[in-house]
Amino acid sequence: MDFAAELKRHVARVEHGLDLYLPAATTRPARLHTAMRYTLEAGGKRLRPVLVLATAELFQSVAPSATAPTDPLPAAVAIECLHTYSLIHDDLPCMDNDDLRRGRPTAHKQFDEATALLAGDALLTHAFALLAESYDAQPTLAHALIRELAAAAGSRRLIGGQMADLLAEKKFEATPGELEFIHLNKTAAMIEAALVLGGLLGGAGTGELAHLRRAGRNLGLAFQIIDDILDATADTATLGKTAGKDAKADKTTFVKLHGLEISRRLAAEHTTAARGELDRLLGDKSFLVALLETMATRSR
Ligand code: IPE
Ligand code: IPE
Ligand code: MG
Ligand code: MG
Ligand code: MG
Repeated sequence: MDFAAELKRHVARVEHGLDLYLPAATTRPARLHTAMRYTLEAGGKRLRPVLVLATAELFQSVAPSATAPTDPLPAAVAIECLHTYSLIHDDLPCMDNDDLRRGRPTAHKQFDEATALLAGDALLTHAFALLAESYDAQPTLAHALIRELAAAAGSRRLIGGQMADLLAEKKFEATPGELEFIHLNKTAAMIEAALVLGGLLGGAGTGELAHLRRAGRNLGLAFQIIDDILDATADTATLGKTAGKDAKADKTTFVKLHGLEISRRLAAEHTTAARGELDRLLGDKSFLVALLETMATRSR
């Protein structure tokens, strides 16, 4: 398996899908549709949509169906729309107040706060419209996908994690349990959902979905611990977002609570645990395993 070539293939498919499944920038009102595409098209690692595509392919290769395989691309685009909405809102002055995202001025800097807010709202809504429309010929699948994404994005998970993150700013007495709640929800929920959506699209069974969920939980925790480490150690140009902002806002992060060394060890442990869950699945998992490992040593 040529990891770099496979990654490139998946990312190219995602980029194509984003263009295909988003309203044209000229759609009325053009300012809103331009803003929706602005942060989406700035790039990013595309981790979540790539996880959807690669996981769907894994299961489709293990148990090929008699009919044509279901296309996972609309679901991959949906999760990237949802993730990008969460970034646009995360950067707003009332949240993390950031000026730079994906190497570009944040949406509220490029446009204005109201436009950024509405572009985020529209991306969130578009994600569910895309699932409902694209899988309408398979209502049971459509229902499962919508239910999974809604639960991961809702008040108990992504949004709840973001609320807890803000509540824990400048908090001296934050506990490791509170920190785990934040990371499990603001970040791991969506990574877990990416693997589960891929599994649902590929026809995974209940037991396999449980392994995917645990893999996602661990990959997600490792991912956010490393995000905290990079915020403290990397530079703005490499990150494409402002470095050092967690310390400045006095966020409750792994680096603040545990220090760099223990944080690195915990990230490695969660990566190993994620890998252990993937090892339990049938088929050629080499791409997914290599993707986990690449995320563990990423520089942005
Ligand atoms: C940033 O996500 C927000 C976190 C959950 C840490 P990514 O690091 O996946 O951002 P992009 O999509 O590559 O820009
Ligand atoms: C963001 O966490 C998580 C979500 C956007 C849901 P951070 O606030 O650490 O993400 P960055 O560092 O701004 O990308
Ligand atoms: Mg934040
Ligand atoms: Mg932030
Ligand atoms: Mg961060």
